[in-house]
Amino acid sequence: MNDMQPNDVAPNCTEQRIRLYDGSERRIFLCDEEVPYPDGKLIVSSTDTEGVITHCNDSFVDMSGYSEAELIGQPHSILRHPDIPKAAFADMWNTVQGGEKWAGYIKNLRKDGRYYWVYATVVPNKRAGVIKGFTSVRRKPSRDRVNEAQALYVEMKKAEVNS
Ligand SMILES: Cc1cc2nc3c(=O)[nH]c(=O)nc-3n(C[C@H](O)[C@H](O)[C@H](O)COP(=O)(O)O)c2cc1C
Repeated sequence: MNDMQPNDVAPNCTEQRIRLYDGSERRIFLCDEEVPYPDGKLIVSSTDTEGVITHCNDSFVDMSGYSEAELIGQPHSILRHPDIPKAAFADMWNTVQGGEKWAGYIKNLRKDGRYYWVYATVVPNKRAGVIKGFTSVRRKPSRDRVNEAQALYVEMKKAEVNS
């Protein structure tokens, strides 16, 4: 996946390298500024069975900061924020690959280094009982639930570092 570019990001971002599930590294820029989730919008995307983006709606484009052309064909981890523990995504993948629906709170990294919180549901798309891909629909999360998720993820990240 392409590295994030210094020219794309907001001022006062810090550079980091993250390791993705497939072993590859990505240079990212993080800026400690939240972009509020817009009222009344649903952010929708679909992927193939590997999590490569095959479709996304206008709200997805608006909130991620990437163009549709930059998103289609990229792994969904293009939005991966390092504050979300690996175990959260492992739980998501285990659930949806097992054919069930998953829901949870996710902090996403924008092209400009800022972030946004979502309440996401992910469902498997099945044809004749076979999983052909996945679809995720995100809603505006409640602030209380975001605060709870954030506190939990901080603890889970500490456990990650110590393991
Ligand atoms: C339909 C679908 C939607 C996803 N949406 C997101 C998302 O919004 N943000 C995100 O970081 N990961 C999302 N993921 C999970 C990523 O595929 C990936 O597992 C995650 O970013 C962690 O990266 P890693 O698996 O390379 O460690 C989604 C996966 C699927 C199947």
